[in-house]
Amino acid sequence: MALREIREYGDDVLARPCKEVKEVTPRIRELIEDMFETMYDANGVGLAAPQVGILKRIVVIDCSPEGEEPHLLINPVILETSGEQTGYEGCLSLPGKSGVVTRPNYVKVKAFDIDMKPFELEGTELLARAICHELDHLDGHMYVEKVEGELVNNEDLQQPEE
Ligand code: NI
Repeated sequence: MALREIREYGDDVLARPCKEVKEVTPRIRELIEDMFETMYDANGVGLAAPQVGILKRIVVIDCSPEGEEPHLLINPVILETSGEQTGYEGCLSLPGKSGVVTRPNYVKVKAFDIDMKPFELEGTELLARAICHELDHLDGHMYVEKVEGELVNNEDLQQPEE
Protein backbone atom coordinates (compact mmCIF):
# COMPACT_ATOMS: atom_id res chain seq x y z
CA MET A 1 0.00 0.00 0.00
CA ALA A 2 1.06 3.53 -0.59
CA LEU A 3 -0.13 7.03 0.01
CA ARG A 4 -1.21 8.86 -3.11
CA GLU A 5 -0.99 12.54 -3.81
CA ILE A 6 -4.31 14.30 -3.21
CA ARG A 7 -5.15 16.59 -6.10
CA GLU A 8 -6.29 20.06 -5.14
CA TYR A 9 -9.12 22.25 -6.34
CA GLY A 10 -8.16 23.81 -9.67
CA ASP A 11 -6.58 20.59 -10.93
CA ASP A 12 -8.29 19.65 -14.20
CA VAL A 13 -8.69 16.03 -13.12
CA LEU A 14 -11.24 17.14 -10.50
CA ALA A 15 -13.47 18.72 -13.15
CA ARG A 16 -13.80 15.70 -15.42
CA PRO A 17 -16.38 12.88 -15.38
CA CYS A 18 -15.14 9.45 -14.32
CA LYS A 19 -15.53 6.18 -16.20
CA GLU A 20 -17.28 3.09 -14.88
CA VAL A 21 -15.21 0.23 -13.52
CA LYS A 22 -15.76 -2.92 -15.58
CA GLU A 23 -13.54 -5.29 -13.63
CA VAL A 24 -11.61 -5.13 -10.37
CA THR A 25 -8.12 -5.84 -11.61
CA PRO A 26 -5.12 -6.15 -9.25
CA ARG A 27 -4.30 -2.57 -10.20
CA ILE A 28 -7.75 -1.36 -9.12
CA ARG A 29 -7.55 -3.40 -5.93
CA GLU A 30 -4.29 -1.62 -5.15
CA LEU A 31 -5.87 1.75 -5.97
CA ILE A 32 -8.71 1.03 -3.51
CA GLU A 33 -6.26 0.05 -0.73
CA ASP A 34 -4.27 3.21 -1.41
CA MET A 35 -7.43 5.33 -1.35
CA PHE A 36 -8.34 4.06 2.13
CA GLU A 37 -4.79 4.62 3.36
CA THR A 38 -4.66 8.11 1.84
CA MET A 39 -8.05 9.03 3.32
CA TYR A 40 -7.12 7.86 6.82
CA ASP A 41 -3.71 9.52 6.63
CA ALA A 42 -5.39 12.83 5.78
CA ASN A 43 -8.04 12.37 8.50
CA GLY A 44 -10.77 12.47 5.89
CA VAL A 45 -14.16 10.77 6.00
CA GLY A 46 -14.38 10.16 2.27
CA LEU A 47 -12.28 10.11 -0.88
CA ALA A 48 -13.12 9.70 -4.57
CA ALA A 49 -10.71 8.25 -7.14
CA PRO A 50 -10.33 11.51 -9.13
CA GLN A 51 -8.94 13.09 -5.96
CA VAL A 52 -5.91 10.85 -6.43
CA GLY A 53 -5.86 11.51 -10.15
CA ILE A 54 -7.73 8.42 -11.37
CA LEU A 55 -10.87 9.01 -13.45
CA LYS A 56 -12.78 5.94 -12.27
CA ARG A 57 -16.10 5.68 -10.44
CA ILE A 58 -14.72 4.54 -7.08
CA VAL A 59 -15.44 6.09 -3.67
CA VAL A 60 -14.33 5.21 -0.15
CA ILE A 61 -16.12 6.53 2.93
CA ASP A 62 -15.58 6.06 6.64
CA CYS A 63 -17.61 8.42 8.75
CA SER A 64 -19.35 5.90 10.97
CA PRO A 65 -18.87 5.42 14.69
CA GLU A 66 -15.86 3.27 15.57
CA GLY A 67 -16.29 -0.40 14.91
CA GLU A 68 -18.50 -0.05 11.86
CA GLU A 69 -17.25 -1.13 8.48
CA PRO A 70 -15.91 1.50 6.10
CA HIS A 71 -17.69 1.75 2.77
CA LEU A 72 -16.37 1.05 -0.72
CA LEU A 73 -18.66 2.10 -3.55
CA ILE A 74 -17.83 1.09 -7.12
CA ASN A 75 -20.00 2.60 -9.88
CA PRO A 76 -22.41 4.09 -7.31
CA VAL A 77 -25.80 5.43 -8.40
CA ILE A 78 -28.26 7.30 -6.20
CA LEU A 79 -31.64 5.55 -6.11
CA GLU A 80 -33.49 7.70 -3.63
CA THR A 81 -33.08 10.82 -1.53
CA SER A 82 -35.29 12.55 0.99
CA GLY A 83 -35.24 15.31 3.54
CA GLU A 84 -32.71 18.08 3.84
CA GLN A 85 -29.73 18.99 6.00
CA THR A 86 -27.75 22.20 5.95
CA GLY A 87 -24.29 22.27 7.47
CA TYR A 88 -20.56 22.74 7.05
CA GLU A 89 -18.72 20.54 4.62
CA GLY A 90 -15.07 20.26 3.65
CA CYS A 91 -12.97 18.42 1.10
CA LEU A 92 -9.45 16.98 1.15
CA SER A 93 -8.94 18.66 -2.24
CA LEU A 94 -9.51 22.05 -0.64
CA PRO A 95 -7.53 21.76 2.58
CA GLY A 96 -8.23 24.09 5.45
CA LYS A 97 -11.58 25.30 4.15
CA SER A 98 -15.25 24.59 4.83
CA GLY A 99 -18.54 25.91 3.57
CA VAL A 100 -22.24 25.51 4.19
CA VAL A 101 -23.98 23.10 1.82
CA THR A 102 -27.55 21.78 1.80
CA ARG A 103 -27.82 18.07 1.07
CA PRO A 104 -30.50 15.39 1.39
CA ASN A 105 -30.76 13.96 4.90
CA TYR A 106 -31.35 10.45 3.57
CA VAL A 107 -29.74 8.77 0.57
CA LYS A 108 -30.04 5.27 -0.86
CA VAL A 109 -27.42 4.17 -3.39
CA LYS A 110 -26.70 1.05 -5.34
CA ALA A 111 -23.10 0.17 -6.01
CA PHE A 112 -20.75 -2.76 -6.53
CA ASP A 113 -18.37 -4.20 -3.95
CA ILE A 114 -14.78 -5.39 -4.37
CA ASP A 115 -16.07 -8.62 -5.96
CA MET A 116 -18.30 -6.61 -8.31
CA LYS A 117 -21.39 -7.85 -6.48
CA PRO A 118 -24.20 -5.30 -6.42
CA PHE A 119 -25.50 -4.01 -3.09
CA GLU A 120 -27.49 -1.13 -1.70
CA LEU A 121 -26.49 1.27 1.04
CA GLU A 122 -28.67 3.67 2.97
CA GLY A 123 -27.29 6.62 4.88
CA THR A 124 -28.59 9.50 6.92
CA GLU A 125 -26.98 12.69 8.23
CA LEU A 126 -23.17 12.63 7.84
CA LEU A 127 -23.16 9.44 5.77
CA ALA A 128 -25.82 10.84 3.41
CA ARG A 129 -23.78 14.03 3.10
CA ALA A 130 -20.56 12.11 2.44
CA ILE A 131 -22.21 9.92 -0.22
CA CYS A 132 -23.56 12.97 -2.08
CA HIS A 133 -20.26 14.83 -1.79
CA GLU A 134 -18.17 11.91 -3.06
CA LEU A 135 -20.55 11.04 -5.89
CA ASP A 136 -20.37 14.64 -7.08
CA HIS A 137 -16.60 14.17 -7.47
CA LEU A 138 -17.26 11.31 -9.92
CA ASP A 139 -19.07 13.75 -12.20
CA GLY A 140 -16.40 16.42 -11.93
CA HIS A 141 -18.19 18.54 -9.35
CA MET A 142 -16.98 20.00 -6.05
CA TYR A 143 -18.93 21.23 -3.07
CA VAL A 144 -17.74 24.79 -3.64
CA GLU A 145 -20.23 24.98 -6.54
CA LYS A 146 -23.00 24.51 -3.98
CA VAL A 147 -21.70 26.56 -1.08
CA GLU A 148 -24.11 28.99 0.49
CA GLY A 149 -22.19 32.12 1.46
CA GLU A 150 -18.42 32.22 1.92
CA LEU A 151 -15.85 29.51 2.49
CA VAL A 152 -14.41 29.74 5.99
CA ASN A 153 -11.06 28.69 7.42
CA ASN A 154 -11.12 25.49 9.44
CA GLU A 155 -9.08 27.18 12.15
CA ASP A 156 -12.32 28.88 13.02
CA LEU A 157 -14.26 25.65 12.80
CA GLN A 158 -13.32 22.04 13.50
CA GLN A 159 -14.86 19.88 10.77
CA PRO A 160 -14.04 16.54 9.15
CA GLU A 161 -12.82 16.83 5.58
CA GLU A 162 -14.20 14.66 2.79
NI1 NI B 1 -14.26 16.08 -1.59
